[in-house]
Amino acid sequence: MNPTAVPTSTVFTAPAAEQELISSLPPGFRWGVATSAYQIEGSIDADGRTPSIWDTYCQVPGAIANGDNGDIACEHYTRMPQDVALIKELGLDTYRFSVSWPRVQPGGKGGINPAGIAFYDRLVDELLAQGIDPWVTLYHWDLPQELEDAGGWPVRDTAYRFADYSMLVFDALNDRVNTWTTLNEPWCSAMLGYAYGAHAPGRKEYPAAVAAVHHLLLGHGLATERMREAAPRKLDIGITLNAATAYPASDQHPDLEAARRADGMGRRLYLDPLVYGRYPADVVADLAAEGIEIPVQEGDLATISAPIDVLGINYYFSQQFTGFAEDGKTVGDDGLPIIRSLPLNRPRTAMDWEIVPEGFTDLLVGISREYPGLPMVITENGAAFDDTPDENGYVADEGRTAYFATHLAAVAEAIQQGADIRGYLAWSLMDNFEWAYGYEKRFGIVRVDYDTQVRTPKQSALYLKEVVQNHRSA
Ligand code: FCB
Repeated sequence: MNPTAVPTSTVFTAPAAEQELISSLPPGFRWGVATSAYQIEGSIDADGRTPSIWDTYCQVPGAIANGDNGDIACEHYTRMPQDVALIKELGLDTYRFSVSWPRVQPGGKGGINPAGIAFYDRLVDELLAQGIDPWVTLYHWDLPQELEDAGGWPVRDTAYRFADYSMLVFDALNDRVNTWTTLNEPWCSAMLGYAYGAHAPGRKEYPAAVAAVHHLLLGHGLATERMREAAPRKLDIGITLNAATAYPASDQHPDLEAARRADGMGRRLYLDPLVYGRYPADVVADLAAEGIEIPVQEGDLATISAPIDVLGINYYFSQQFTGFAEDGKTVGDDGLPIIRSLPLNRPRTAMDWEIVPEGFTDLLVGISREYPGLPMVITENGAAFDDTPDENGYVADEGRTAYFATHLAAVAEAIQQGADIRGYLAWSLMDNFEWAYGYEKRFGIVRVDYDTQVRTPKQSALYLKEVVQNHRSA
């Protein structure tokens, strides 16, 4: 950090309408940042940690941009106290981090690894000492490699292994941690990992990916039931989903159908079983038409729909969909209906994701209507841009700052329309290992110089700090 290099007065002025919405956020709204273990920790061999599927996947030639990996990342494992001090300095009240499964249960079996859990023990104590609420995510994609070798998430047993692992962490930290998320974005684990081969373990087996969806949800349910039963007091237990609004490109039937399918596979396939204990009939029928069956066993859906206290929503962008191919056909060579995203012609982030804040509002309002009674917290929202630091390492990241302003306004708008949203955690505390994009894409509100590991808050961090201060003093 270089405090002399950064301006201290107002760093960004959002348009008046956005400011007004943001200032309408309710009292008690919580503010924080999120990270995940593999993206920041480094120290992959320390204290008995064994490889996860991401360590393995990073060795696949061409899998990760520039051949990057998480071996060193942000060296958070050894720099943790300074990173906590940074969160404190930004005036945030909540820190969402994930626990590395192969650190605390090497190989994915047996009891707890005392040296591995000791890190999270210290982290929790450090956060509490600084007045920051720790929010634990149990699984942010780093499955122990041994469990993938045994079949991974497409195999039912992995759900039980996850519940056992969850209890090891829960027993160690529940005396101090009040908020627990089982899974981060099961869609990504299942689809990017097992259907599209874009994330670890890099498989391209669609039926296996659908089985993975079910076993991830089952693992969530098993862990939730067991944590609830063992909870020493009232705790908040939930899951985090990535979701978006799927807009139809027109009201023609093929476009409406394409949007329905995208929404079904992306959002309802998770929310319906979690909230109502059933898979959506239309999605089940679509899958059946492809010869795919969700491997549900008796009692699974009751487990999956174990009550949760908080639904985490991660939002980055929305898309519109068409059911027409470029040549106008509505059925592809594989005999399946066409489903294709079409640009909304909006500005894009460095991820090439379109910036669609109203998709955020529509998503949150939609969920609150279709699945009422479920308090939500935004557990991730943010944007990658190509940052240019000045000689002090300071980044005047106007694009990212504006993104936060429009998206905070979108959340406030959703609340005004009746959605129950209790907080907002920005992705991410600092630049980090952005999965298949390696270190090329920067989502941090704090810049990390990977040569020196120096952290420098960007304009967006100072803006969020100011928003939080204003909110608290209102
Ligand atoms: C989310 C992930 C997070 C990060 C952001 C950009 O899908 O949960 O780890 O990669 O996207």
